[in-house]
Amino acid sequence: MQTINRLDALRRAVAELRQNGPVAFVPTMGALHEGHLTLVREAKAQAAHVVVSIFVNPTQFGPNEDLDAYPRRLAEDSRLLAAEGVDLLWAPDVAEMYPAGFSTNISVSGVSEGFCGAARPGHFDGVATVVNKLFNQVLPDLAFFGEKDWQQLAVIRRMARDLDLTLPHADRIHGVPTVREPDGLAMSSRNQYLSPAEREAAAALPRALRAAIARIESGGDVAGALAELESALGAAGFSSVDYAALADAESLEPLAHPAERPARLLVAARIGGTRLIDNMPVTFR
Ligand code: PAF
Repeated sequence: MQTINRLDALRRAVAELRQNGPVAFVPTMGALHEGHLTLVREAKAQAAHVVVSIFVNPTQFGPNEDLDAYPRRLAEDSRLLAAEGVDLLWAPDVAEMYPAGFSTNISVSGVSEGFCGAARPGHFDGVATVVNKLFNQVLPDLAFFGEKDWQQLAVIRRMARDLDLTLPHADRIHGVPTVREPDGLAMSSRNQYLSPAEREAAAALPRALRAAIARIESGGDVAGALAELESALGAAGFSSVDYAALADAESLEPLAHPAERPARLLVAARIGGTRLIDNMPVTFR
């Protein structure tokens, strides 16, 4: 596996790879876990070559968020990616990604405004801008993102459609189902912030999500199911629930009632100093 941190070298290396078949791309911020490696395996299954990026993007962190504390483990991450047969690791530094004078911002309205967008102002502008840059740098044929960050995936797909991206085309931006710990907790680089007691209590999040979905899918009212979910999280030791909502899977418009279209139940809640997010599909019969 080649590790590259200069844009001109990246462009040459990707052009060479592309001569022998399609290139799949997995953008990450490092601190890789099984969830990321699942994206890599899916990418490998669908393309001749896989490029992974590791870049802790400062513009998607708010002033009081964990940018400085965010885990950085490039050597260990490289070993994991090489073992998966990744062709190329793109690991630019902040000056390479945002040279002096950088002043462009991509803001996707609507889908990025509620939920995590409301709780983390500017976060999705930072994500959309860096992902657009990463796409333009790597020019992948297809790209893979985890469904755990469902709103992020919806924002990126909207951006790709709105800006008529071709590499990758919006239809070739793939969501990969969330990888979970044995007790159901969604894998996340932020789980390592949890104390042992918080980690144990955190399993209440997927449990409460599943219970609420079962209630909605069997005809129960949405508001009642969400209220029950919130009180289950409170009882388990979560200090607050940022949001718990049923939403259209693509536009993320909140749904007060079941509808004849794909929907997700989305939750963000805090336990100790850590904010956890999760979501699952809801099927209406
Ligand atoms: O999901 C992430 O790791 C990041 O938000 C991403 C997509 C790599 C952009 O920085």
